[in-house]
Amino acid sequence: MENYWESVVPGSGRREPRADFVSTARTISLNGTWKFVLSPTAPGTGAHFADPALDDSSWGDIRVPAHWVLEDVGPGPVELVAPLYTNTAFPIPVDPPRVPTENATGDYRLAFDVPDDWRGGVLRFQGVDSCGQVWLNGVELGHSKGSRLPFEFEAPVVAGRNVVAVRVHRWSSGTYLEDQDMWWLPGIFRDVELLERPAGAINDFFVHASWADGMGTLRVDSNVPGLVDIPSLGISISTGETVTVAAEPWSAEVPRLYAGTLRAVGPSASSGTDSGSGAEAEVIDLRVGFRTVTIQDGVLLVNGRKVLFRGVNRHEHDPDRGRSLDRETMLQDILMMKRNNVNAVRTSHYPPHPEFLRLCDEYGLWVVEECDLETHGFIYTGWEGNPPAVEEWKPALLDRIQRMVERDKNHPSIVVWSMANESWTGDTFGDLAAWIRERDGSRPIMYERDPSYRNSDFHSLMYPSLDDLEAIGRREEPRPENVTDEEDDRRRGLPFLLCEYAHAMGNGPGSLVDYQRILEAHDRFCGAFVWEWIDHGFRSRDRNGVEYFMHGADVAFRPNGGRYCLDGLVFPDRTPSPGLAELAVAIAPVEITVGSEITVRNKYDVRDLAHLRFTWVLETEGVEVASGSLAVPPCPAGSSVTVPRPAAPELSAGESWMTVTASLADDEPWAETGHIVAWGQGLVDTVFSPNEGDTAERGRASARTRDTGPLSPSFGAGMLELGSAQFDAATGRLVRLGDLELEGPRLDVWRAPTENDRGQGPRNTMAATWKAVGLDRMLRRTDRVVQTSAGIRVEGRDAPAAHGIGLRWVFDWTLGEDDALTLAVSVTPEGIWRATPIGAHDIWLPRLGLRMGLPAAYSHVSWFGHGPGESYSDSRAAARVGAFTSSIDALQTNYLVPEENGNHVDTRWLELSGSGMPTVRVEGAPVFDFTARRWTSEALEDARHPQDLVDSGRVWVNLDHAQQGLGSSSCGPALPLDYRVEPTPTAWSLTLRSTPRSE
Ligand code: GAL
Ligand code: MG
Repeated sequence: MENYWESVVPGSGRREPRADFVSTARTISLNGTWKFVLSPTAPGTGAHFADPALDDSSWGDIRVPAHWVLEDVGPGPVELVAPLYTNTAFPIPVDPPRVPTENATGDYRLAFDVPDDWRGGVLRFQGVDSCGQVWLNGVELGHSKGSRLPFEFEAPVVAGRNVVAVRVHRWSSGTYLEDQDMWWLPGIFRDVELLERPAGAINDFFVHASWADGMGTLRVDSNVPGLVDIPSLGISISTGETVTVAAEPWSAEVPRLYAGTLRAVGPSASSGTDSGSGAEAEVIDLRVGFRTVTIQDGVLLVNGRKVLFRGVNRHEHDPDRGRSLDRETMLQDILMMKRNNVNAVRTSHYPPHPEFLRLCDEYGLWVVEECDLETHGFIYTGWEGNPPAVEEWKPALLDRIQRMVERDKNHPSIVVWSMANESWTGDTFGDLAAWIRERDGSRPIMYERDPSYRNSDFHSLMYPSLDDLEAIGRREEPRPENVTDEEDDRRRGLPFLLCEYAHAMGNGPGSLVDYQRILEAHDRFCGAFVWEWIDHGFRSRDRNGVEYFMHGADVAFRPNGGRYCLDGLVFPDRTPSPGLAELAVAIAPVEITVGSEITVRNKYDVRDLAHLRFTWVLETEGVEVASGSLAVPPCPAGSSVTVPRPAAPELSAGESWMTVTASLADDEPWAETGHIVAWGQGLVDTVFSPNEGDTAERGRASARTRDTGPLSPSFGAGMLELGSAQFDAATGRLVRLGDLELEGPRLDVWRAPTENDRGQGPRNTMAATWKAVGLDRMLRRTDRVVQTSAGIRVEGRDAPAAHGIGLRWVFDWTLGEDDALTLAVSVTPEGIWRATPIGAHDIWLPRLGLRMGLPAAYSHVSWFGHGPGESYSDSRAAARVGAFTSSIDALQTNYLVPEENGNHVDTRWLELSGSGMPTVRVEGAPVFDFTARRWTSEALEDARHPQDLVDSGRVWVNLDHAQQGLGSSSCGPALPLDYRVEPTPTAWSLTLRSTPRSE
């Protein structure tokens, strides 16, 4: 009655797991176009589908490798033909190990030719989701589960035509072990190959390559005797033999790999085989990296040195091909990571394609390799039946661990094995850890979710607040519930690996610099991994044929994880988001401080700075006035040097900033000469021009001006005039500035909520509170429009319907030289700013500033402040001080779920220009934040996808006194108080000027 796909048995008929390697033995790739039929239920098209004689000419075609739900397989119910996204929830009833009868099943067939001289084949599947049963020439070879792990069968192929048939089920018992937060994507999605394995060939080998004190020690164990040659080290040894030679260590920073070979020798190699293409002829490619991973006194060391993972969590994702990645895309990920100072990857949450790991060895990334095991959905049964806690599942779990470790044991880049993600607790974890320790004692093991950490060599958590992380660094974290004294003591002694933090969903994450500061301050930390590298969106087209990236909620299936699959540092097509730029600066391996002297701090783990070239440039108001190169004395890893600041020429009026840049002096495999690794900036001087009025002082002066009583309109009906400016007498709103008609500034506190503003419920949502009290629907009342001795004063109050809270405001407009209008604003909150209807939260403001509307002809901005990219109070490290120009369209970051974006903190001045329009200049006193876009915040909030945003026929400019930071509350702690905008009495001012267009 029990069938194979619902049995907890991990597979049948398979070969023992073994190392993945590259050799000269022949391989026939079975990738390509296969015949394919999709059925709504298991067991597919029936018993005869594997018959080599079957006429499959009427079947459809499908590409292998691929997920059938991302290929054109025709119409059908979503369960059959669409990718599904649920996050934690299982897409099937939690009734382990059973699955529904409605179980999409793909029958695949391929006829292929084998040459006459082919000997002893192995059929290898690198990845089949979720369960595949395999036949060769009509004979059943067996089946396997474990989607992101390889499996092999002995393949008694015949010379000439052979037929391989594979039946793939979308759901199987394996589904219960694969509840990672990602799309459900069935199919043969990784390579299928026929490997020649001559008799006597090496089947499996284990490279043990350690390093200490300048010496590398090597031993290669293999199933049959072999010879190991590493010419550049003069090594020529037998397998099983140990040799110690002077060698450079492997590290992510200097990924020294020694190329060598391994070949079988001795009686077993030649017995029963011919010479020629036999075992002796197979040469296995060895890439040996010497390194030793240890934990000493609660600190992770590699080659005796403390290392810090500046990592990201990487899922395999391509917007068209899902987890079926080509090598080019894998390499692209690695190059982008290296260029953005990322030095580590957690392979969340499954072993990646083996080629990715070869590339990590070569280009240099520390890897925490995670097994294909997550049972998160048992949270909905209160963990009842959780496989790690149920004896009958043990073989299935062990099978996964073994297939990971055996496949990847020879990669120097892998320094930590991670047993699973989010699978709560169970005795089987003890067995898994014991097996790993027995098989590979050279790498520590982590598992985050068991509060006892009894099987983990690391303490680890996800998404702690800054304060909690600080306590962990000091080993003063609170004791988890239900752990023994002994477990508590042991955990406190472990190094801490922050496996996920800084949830990069939508606009964000904030606080990367804050986290990094703490991570660098305590030896206990071995590093951290941002969640996550890439948005899992799929390229799609809407009803109007417009291309966009879809998320979970764009597929009509329940349960539905919605937009939660979009939380990466890069967009689905790998366009970097601003968060990546911020990360690159936050984790930069060199810290440059420009003060009265220049200090360079080397934060590499091993590398000195000889590969970097330092240059400086001095800019006044963003215009270069001097530059040069900077000689930086030798500076080994972990040390600092200080050099004098280059002398500045006589400076003209304005702010003069010196920027020192560290860039590659020569090409590296991952970037070209000149690639910027780090930079630092410092204010050298601010020179005031002799008659420059202090705008801030002017603002304050006007705020002190006394009323002189109501004024009758001085120009036309209902208009007030101040210099060339006109104000509507009823609303007090500025409507004309010289030749320019505009919707003058009014108070604005709303922003289109970010994913992080929305948070995750009462613990950390801010947007729900804002909306509950109506900050998105403030009503305006103008109380008075009066003339003062210095100009025009407008008073009023903005407040939401139904609530007692409000913001009383006073706008004082005064006229300065050159027709400049200064606006001094003061805001006083009234009422009790507590969101009583939904709890005891205090209410904070999304922003506190002004919004104005300009004609659509405005198209460009220039500013002096931070740029060129967007910045927020808690994400501003990547935005340097300078003068920048941009089109208004280019200021937008098209987050896949439209939300607030494109802010620029601490702007000194801003100029908006457009064809036929006077230039509008805004000056801060001293600074303001700005955004400019062709739609309102309300329209931005209402849009479901970027293509819903349409030009409103106006350019909307926000000039903020303050705007809330970003945080990462979409999965994580509440936004730190420092980055919030408190409703408290506040005053500030700005100067507005309209100047005729030059030229
Ligand atoms: C973690 C989990 C990830 C992802 C993330 C939220 O709990 O390990 O897989 O779900 O949260 O995006
Ligand atoms: Mg999960």
